[in-house]
Amino acid sequence: MAPFINQNIFHAKLSGRFTASAPSNLALIKYWGKKGFQLPSNASLSLTLRESVTKMQVEFTYDANGPERHWEFLFQDEPNEKFAKKILGHLELMTVHLPFLAKTSLKINSSNTFPHSAGIASSASASGALALVAVALGNLLSGQKFAVDTNLALSSFLARLGSGSGSRSLFPYSSLWGDLGGTFNADHGVESSDEFAVGTHGQIPFMQDLEDLILIVDKGEKSVSSRDGHGLMEKNPYAGIRYGRANQKLGTLFSALKECQTAEDFHAVGPMIESEALELHALMMTSSPPVILMREKTLAIIHELWNWRKELGAPAYFTLDAGPNIHLLYPKGQAASVQAFLVRLESKGLLPLSVIYDGAGTGPALSPLVLL
Ligand code: PMV
Repeated sequence: MAPFINQNIFHAKLSGRFTASAPSNLALIKYWGKKGFQLPSNASLSLTLRESVTKMQVEFTYDANGPERHWEFLFQDEPNEKFAKKILGHLELMTVHLPFLAKTSLKINSSNTFPHSAGIASSASASGALALVAVALGNLLSGQKFAVDTNLALSSFLARLGSGSGSRSLFPYSSLWGDLGGTFNADHGVESSDEFAVGTHGQIPFMQDLEDLILIVDKGEKSVSSRDGHGLMEKNPYAGIRYGRANQKLGTLFSALKECQTAEDFHAVGPMIESEALELHALMMTSSPPVILMREKTLAIIHELWNWRKELGAPAYFTLDAGPNIHLLYPKGQAASVQAFLVRLESKGLLPLSVIYDGAGTGPALSPLVLL
């Protein structure tokens, strides 16, 4: 795909400000294991979140003849070394494809609408927002005018360089990342690719009705970073069957989601989503050294969910990310029964530390350029 921005920059010097926001996303089929540079070993499918969002204000000065560019990063108005390292590293990677960045000074101020301790992937939302700004800046400086879809594909490509799952943070409601081959593409009318994610709202509109109640059971730092987790897959004894199997599961889930129309139809896909979450954790447990990210409470809540579903048949199913917190997915209209489930958890002494009400969202946003 690269290089994709016309490198004829028409401005000698230009200063302005972009403000972008991008959501985090929650994978139903997980990306776990990578090949080459930031390419996925299998395809993944995600729900775009609505409430868990990174907002980024970026002031820029492009100066073709100026001194060395200077990049500065603040998190919620304060210096933050850990986040700065990630964001500035991502900018370096983007500069390979967008050489004008080498002559662009940036002052970035980023904030999240969700607590860091919730285990929600802020690297995905931050890389999405940064990529959105980079593409907007490239278009501004070069005078290129791409179609919206092209801009999003470019942003997804660039977001991927900073965070693999970030490639999926740029589309309304749902997104697919990873090449599933010609038959899948022809059957479902999508251009799946390893290089960037694509939006799948047109194919699986049911996803827009999903709510995600996040049950925080542990606020500690993850014991393994996702970078190290991906690395562990290189020697995982099940890696060989995992990747083909994940792609196959994605195909089956995708076809089933296409058929979903009512809340009750969620029973046809929920078991696949739960089994995939447990498979992700099984892969971690069979890595060397083994990783156990679930806590006692994670398991206790899963058992309680299964008991509750057996008794009442509510269409609510869990998934897990690389952490102990539970994402309870259910179609809109089930809020009352999910509240009843929380009351039930309380009566069993299993109330989570806190909860976040999230759900399917419309995706990223870029506010108009302000010239400074
Ligand atoms: O994008 P990364 O490198 O943070 O990896 C994401 C890994 C999972 O969240 C566990 C799965 C996924 O597909 O989002």
